Amino acid sequence: MAPSVQVQQVDTSADSITESVKKIALGVGRTGDGTSNFKGGFADSSVDKLPEPTRKRFEKYGIDISRGYPERPPTEEIPVFIDDATAIRNTPWEFIDRGSKADPEKKALLGAAKEVKHLTKHIGTEIVGLQLSELTDQQRDELALLIAERVVVFFRDQDLSPQKQFELGEYFGKVEVHPQQVHVPGIRGITVIWPELFKKFGPITFRKTLNHFTSRWHTDLVHELQPPGITHLHNDTIPEVGGDTVWASGYAAYDKLSPALQEFLDGKKAVYFSANKYVDRENPLKGTVHIEREHPIIRTHPVTGWKSLYVNRAMTSRIVGLEPGESKVILEYLFDVFEKNLDIQVRFNWKPSQPGLGTSALWDNRISQHFAVLDYEGQEPRHGTRVSSLAEVPFYDAESKSQREALGLSLD
Ligand SMILES: [Fe+2]
Repeated sequence: MAPSVQVQQVDTSADSITESVKKIALGVGRTGDGTSNFKGGFADSSVDKLPEPTRKRFEKYGIDISRGYPERPPTEEIPVFIDDATAIRNTPWEFIDRGSKADPEKKALLGAAKEVKHLTKHIGTEIVGLQLSELTDQQRDELALLIAERVVVFFRDQDLSPQKQFELGEYFGKVEVHPQQVHVPGIRGITVIWPELFKKFGPITFRKTLNHFTSRWHTDLVHELQPPGITHLHNDTIPEVGGDTVWASGYAAYDKLSPALQEFLDGKKAVYFSANKYVDRENPLKGTVHIEREHPIIRTHPVTGWKSLYVNRAMTSRIVGLEPGESKVILEYLFDVFEKNLDIQVRFNWKPSQPGLGTSALWDNRISQHFAVLDYEGQEPRHGTRVSSLAEVPFYDAESKSQREALGLSLD
């Protein structure tokens, strides 16, 4: 008698295939310690490693960490496919920059400060003696203008609740909610910046700091239709020594170029891509791909009206209209302008003057790049909360001027 053969029914419906691909895709983010990078909610909680100053801040302001820390969006809301991820925030909305309403002299803000310190000639100002949580709307408008002019503004010794940080971000624009990244429990618009978590992607050692995505020159979220303007990182736990961040000015980078190169780049576009990767629904076996978006390579700031060079080594792939080889050579030069000219950079140490308080940096992401210095090698805790306020669709105005041109400074 012939043996009986059990035929298993295979479900080949489109829904079933989509589910199978999703399961494969969710394994794509597997990390060094075998955990998945794509689990939502409170999976992979690191609450036991939470630094003491952060824990105290959260306790004081009623952030519930009883279910774990940090939190991710629910697994079912984390996009797997590139078309789903691209569709997020893909419709333009009107943005009005708060800086456009400000008193050009900024008397309410600067007059109330104990001290206003310009840290370098071209970029970076520290305000002493003001609490961000107590600023009036007039002072907030003036702060937006100051950030637009100075690129990055610092406030030490801040007692700032996550809720107030979020509210300030909403004042400046539409708060970005990342579909995948970790956030403060209960507040999806506050991204957690905590190198302790980066260790899942590999050890942070003296030789390997560049393996970590914040420790390279970049501009945040350039793949967005309306990328962030004012971006606010509040560090509540800061290493005893080191852990600095460096910013570079896009206005000054533009002014470093020859008039001939400026003219060549004015009005051109480049392709920018996302830090995170997703699965191509039409070709799932191709592996994961980035979201891509075109923006002007020289953009005009809507408040200052100054031109800024908008490229970064981490997330700019090519200049539209050029051959790949041409694009590569020119982009390499433009990246170098930001990275090698120390006179257009500011390096900031976050340490507060009073223990137990935090330090805030608010930078204009439209006109800058930044780089986190991981010199503490993951040995000391560093923890921050970041709120990114989305701004306008990037544009180039042919009538706009460079910063030096507008300020009447020498162009030679
Ligand atoms: Fe960043």
